Amino acid sequence: MQTLNDMLADSKIFARRDILSPHFAPKRLIARAKEINSIEKALAPSLKGDRGRNLFIYGKTGTGKTSCTRYVLEEVKAIPNSKAKISYINCKVYNSRYRVLNKIITDHLPTYAKRGYGTVDLYEKMTSWIEEDSKILVVILDEIDVVKDLDDLVYTLTRINSDIRAGGVTIIGISNKVSFKDVLDPRSLSTLYETELVFPPYYATELYEILKDRVTAAFRPGTVPDDVLHYIAATSAKDGGDARLSLKILSKAGELAEEANLQAVTIKDAEHASKSADNEIVYDLIGTLPEHHKLVLYSIALLTKGGGSYKKLTDGTDTYLFSGEVYSRYKSIAESMSKEPKSERWYRKYISELEVQGLIMSFESGKGIRGHTKLIKLMYSPTRTKEVLEGELFGKGAAAQ
Ligand SMILES: Nc1ncnc2c1ncn2[C@@H]1O[C@H](COP(=O)(O)OP(=O)(O)O)[C@@H](O)[C@H]1O
Ligand SMILES: [Mg+2]
Repeated sequence: MQTLNDMLADSKIFARRDILSPHFAPKRLIARAKEINSIEKALAPSLKGDRGRNLFIYGKTGTGKTSCTRYVLEEVKAIPNSKAKISYINCKVYNSRYRVLNKIITDHLPTYAKRGYGTVDLYEKMTSWIEEDSKILVVILDEIDVVKDLDDLVYTLTRINSDIRAGGVTIIGISNKVSFKDVLDPRSLSTLYETELVFPPYYATELYEILKDRVTAAFRPGTVPDDVLHYIAATSAKDGGDARLSLKILSKAGELAEEANLQAVTIKDAEHASKSADNEIVYDLIGTLPEHHKLVLYSIALLTKGGGSYKKLTDGTDTYLFSGEVYSRYKSIAESMSKEPKSERWYRKYISELEVQGLIMSFESGKGIRGHTKLIKLMYSPTRTKEVLEGELFGKGAAAQ
């Protein structure tokens, strides 16, 4: 649909810009036939009225997890008289056990879904509804890692299976966090990971196809040369194979060409767009962090950029930091700003939250390196992260965007 803005703007470059937006659901998904088939397989028993195995889907952001799952859901919706009742839940919005249960009830029993019911009421209503004609409830928890009381949620949902005589619950969990497994309670882990499906990053050739597929409808004819698409595909492949990033760069490049009143998008536009897209992502993520999270991340950026006693480990191309040195740096920065540093317990919580945001990655060193310690790696450019944080923390030039 052309937005009012598009119509009024009478753009020389864009035909339908919304086609590039992350909310647009493409009809065709490139290079994901195998993954789509695995999701279909996982759902097939539910459609016949049997409880299937739980499925856990993970992979970096922009690898098509949400799109593929939603694609299969549309297929399933078109099947008549299916026993499966499906709830797709975006956990960024429904981020607690109560909210998830309430969302499931709202999806399927809207007349019951009034405010004021407790978890137990919701639970009982749900079990009797499933039992009455042996339904299979399929709960899809997208961005599952942000649920605050996830172990409780997983426990409650699987508990239903032992409390009912007929029907069942199947869970599909989706996470952008590849190392999410490590922080799960062992019981939740064995429940969620009955089967697992990994979405790999896209190759440049695949990203090129994804872009190419959108260009025809999103842009006016002849405004996006092929070498621009190749450039964007190559840059985003290098940056982690993220299709969302590719589309963002393409959209931004179109905007720059338009602002400059050009007839077509140039490689220069794509280069500039690529810088600002990366900046925007870091900027969005950092902007919403509480102060001490920012201070911890600032210490990580400073240590990664230079100083510190870090060692280059494994392949020697990535910089890993010891959790202990990050904590000491954080303490001294906080003190230098006359802020009371938080205890190590809080610090560990900040680290795991920064990891959920995808800003850092942490893992256990394994034996040998100073006994057993946590290693931390910054996921974005240390220079850019430092700049944005200084803008946020000290108001220096309000972060050169
Ligand atoms: N295989 C694909 N074909 C076409 N577009 C895709 C494909 N994979 C991802 N996209 C697009 O990239 C963006 C990010 O995809 P999404 O499914 O949200 O990734 P994830 O959930 O893994 O972060 C969306 O705009 C989506 O339309
Ligand atoms: Mg997603």
